[in-house]
Amino acid sequence: MAAGSAGPQLKHVTCAIVLLPFFVTMTTSADIFLDWHVSADFNLKPVSTDQPVITINGMFPGPLINATTNDNIHVNVFNDLDDPLLFTWNGIQQRLDSWQDGVSGTNCPIQPGKNWTYDFQAKDQIGTFFYFPSINFLKAGGGFGPIRVNNRPLISVPFPKPEAEFDLLIGDWYISSYKDIRSRLNTADVPSPDWMLINGKGPYMNNLSQSYETFNVTQGKTYLLRISNVGTAWSFNFRIQNHQLVLVETEGSYVNQIELESLDVHVGQSYSVLVTANQNAVDYYIVASPKLSNATNNNTLVGVAVLHYDNSTTPANGSLPSGPDPFDLQFSINQAKSIRWNLTTGAARPNPQGMFNVTNVTIIETFILNASTATIDGLSRYSVNNVSYLIPDTPLKLADFFSNGTGVYELDAFSKNTSNANAVRGVFVASALHKGWTEIVLENNLDIIDTWHLDGYSFFVVGMGEGDWNPESRSSYNLYDPVARSTVQVYPGGWSSVYVYPDNPGMWNLRSQNLQSWYLGEELYVRVYDADPNPAKEKPPPQNLLLCGKYQPPTPPPSVSPAPNAPSSNAYAYNPHRTRSLIAMITTAICLFYIDLH
Ligand SMILES: *[C@@H]1O[C@H](CO)[C@@H](O)[C@H](O)[C@H]1NC(C)=O
Ligand SMILES: *[C@@H]1O[C@H](CO)[C@@H](O)[C@H](O)[C@H]1NC(C)=O
Ligand SMILES: *[C@@H]1O[C@H](CO)[C@@H](O)[C@H](O)[C@H]1NC(C)=O
Ligand SMILES: *[C@@H]1O[C@H](CO)[C@@H](O)[C@H](O)[C@H]1NC(C)=O
Ligand SMILES: *[C@@H]1O[C@H](CO)[C@@H](O)[C@H](O)[C@H]1NC(C)=O
Ligand SMILES: *[C@@H]1O[C@H](CO)[C@@H](O)[C@H](O)[C@H]1NC(C)=O
Ligand SMILES: *[C@@H]1O[C@H](CO)[C@@H](O)[C@H](O)[C@H]1NC(C)=O
Ligand SMILES: *[C@@H]1O[C@H](CO)[C@@H](O)[C@H](O)[C@H]1NC(C)=O
Ligand SMILES: *[C@@H]1O[C@H](CO)[C@@H](O)[C@H](O)[C@H]1NC(C)=O
Ligand SMILES: *[C@@H]1O[C@H](CO)[C@@H](O)[C@H](O)[C@H]1NC(C)=O
Ligand SMILES: *[C@@H]1O[C@H](CO)[C@@H](O)[C@H](O)[C@H]1NC(C)=O
Ligand SMILES: *[C@@H]1O[C@H](CO)[C@@H](O)[C@H](O)[C@H]1NC(C)=O
Repeated sequence: MAAGSAGPQLKHVTCAIVLLPFFVTMTTSADIFLDWHVSADFNLKPVSTDQPVITINGMFPGPLINATTNDNIHVNVFNDLDDPLLFTWNGIQQRLDSWQDGVSGTNCPIQPGKNWTYDFQAKDQIGTFFYFPSINFLKAGGGFGPIRVNNRPLISVPFPKPEAEFDLLIGDWYISSYKDIRSRLNTADVPSPDWMLINGKGPYMNNLSQSYETFNVTQGKTYLLRISNVGTAWSFNFRIQNHQLVLVETEGSYVNQIELESLDVHVGQSYSVLVTANQNAVDYYIVASPKLSNATNNNTLVGVAVLHYDNSTTPANGSLPSGPDPFDLQFSINQAKSIRWNLTTGAARPNPQGMFNVTNVTIIETFILNASTATIDGLSRYSVNNVSYLIPDTPLKLADFFSNGTGVYELDAFSKNTSNANAVRGVFVASALHKGWTEIVLENNLDIIDTWHLDGYSFFVVGMGEGDWNPESRSSYNLYDPVARSTVQVYPGGWSSVYVYPDNPGMWNLRSQNLQSWYLGEELYVRVYDADPNPAKEKPPPQNLLLCGKYQPPTPPPSVSPAPNAPSSNAYAYNPHRTRSLIAMITTAICLFYIDLH
């Protein structure tokens, strides 16, 4: 039958098939609306100490963001603290939209008593992430919470559906107020965190813990544990008495599954592991103990929770399961090197992860970034290539938009691969070539395990080692199946190398996840610029853009309040949803019109 003689039903079917992709994408990305009231709670006292704890809607840790790939997330943040506030979404890539990244270089802070709404999409992502307050050292007081990005139904994951999923936000904790610690950071006298909390709770069997964390399981079932290190300084080793961990995911990438007795998790990293409840139905210890520390079993720096089998009446007993020697860095490095990308498994999109093969890429540029401490103007600072980051009053992103950076920063004023002759404070913004593969070598001249995070991307961890990096170190790189993630550890005195493909235009924070180092200057920004102003590339600023620094809002007329979302005030409004719906509607109209004509 010739197409021209096909009945209208067939044409309608053809229309439907042509239009299906539009409607599928429209219906599979849901909108999630959240209202968050962020305040300081003085009554929680997780380890009995009088101190403020930063809660969200009264919760510590904050509420779960339970999203699915491509969902649009809208978080209206009400700042009831007495400090300016921003949240960042660790590992969420903010494709084409660094305006939502929530760090000092991209956003004006939400002032006390004010609210501001983030609108972002979990575009083409899947996995375990978390959020936290990014400025003013607030993370040391809490305010962090879990993010899950679940797979869409049409995407299969490389393991059977677990019986249940648990979020484990584990991190060190100070017994003093975050404000006290913050005020001491400008002196040399900074204490180390004193406790390890699991989901905001102190260790089991410690009489100072207000409560301890328990996970209920049924014998024979398998569970997915989403573990993040939300702390400020300590890496930890995670393990469960008598149980194996099967590592499956690393900050949004599926890995070759490996069975582990214990897993090292560094500050700012996330993993998911499968645990099968295949032991006698009693209770077992779950432990997170600090690396590079002689903490004994009953030390407050050892986090302890309980794995409770249904109907168990036997409390966990015996001694805590022993982990590797906390000073054995070779153990840690070997484990890190054994974490490999599964090249054949699916990803957030319906194609294998290994489509992105780094074996044969051409590196356009190498950054060599050296972290160290320096005394500048009599104060102890952390620096990158001898430059300690100085936060300008005007976010870099705003300056980019309004004045091409003029008056706020100078692009590439500092070297990306050698240390500045003298230690200085400065606004370190490095250019990366749009879509030019970049190698970043991170060197650690500190005596702590450092971790580095890049916003906007997953990078490929191609190598790490002890001692100095030199070009010959490249011969040890794994270019076959390096894992893609957003946070990499750098061992004391050692280096780690990553490859990144800068295909996400914007202003992106590259920082130490160690809170004290970050706060005292160990960060820079990477500017990825694409000259094409097409909003299908980088997005314009959001409608609710906050102004500050050099760019102050005009004083509003006292009584007239403009209608919210009035189209005339939408100078920058760009709504991908609306655009897609519009395209779908126009196509439908054309399609139906065409049918009527024939
Ligand atoms: C999270 O969302 C998924 C998919 O919609 C759903 O199956 C699951 O029950 C949700 N989990 C929680 C804890 O809300
Ligand atoms: C502040 O919250 C109100 C709702 O209480 C909302 O209508 C408004 O859009 C929010 N403001 C911003 C800037 O997000
Ligand atoms: C808590 O335990 C410590 C040592 O085990 C002990 O010295 C202290 O008295 C106990 N405190 C309370 C309130 O029971
Ligand atoms: C876990 O089990 C205990 C005891 O069986 C019960 O009291 C508690 O409510 C359960 N917790 C959850 C989250 O189901
Ligand atoms: C990698 O993923 C594939 C597809 O999901 C799976 O069959 C295979 O077992 C995985 N390999 C490893 C080592 O986990
Ligand atoms: C930890 O113990 C080792 C060996 O006993 C010792 O050499 C080291 O000084 C101790 N470190 C700390 C921080 O106490
Ligand atoms: C802590 O553990 C050590 C040995 O691991 C033991 O000598 C000490 O008595 C314990 N302290 C308390 C308060 O239980
Ligand atoms: C736990 O006990 C209840 C009531 O006695 C029983 O129905 C259930 O099957 C038991 N669960 C397991 C896992 O044994
Ligand atoms: C705890 O003690 C009981 C005996 O009292 C034993 O049957 C059980 O296996 C022990 N649990 C562990 C985890 O060792
Ligand atoms: C990646 O590409 C290289 C050649 O460019 C090839 O040798 C290698 O097998 C590829 N890896 C995978 C996993 O396909
Ligand atoms: C690897 O790259 C080289 C040079 O860019 C190219 O000639 C070669 O075909 C590539 N090999 C594969 C397998 O892609
Ligand atoms: C904006 O700044 C960049 C980097 O400093 C420069 O290369 C470019 O020419 C500037 N663009 C304009 C329009 O001034």
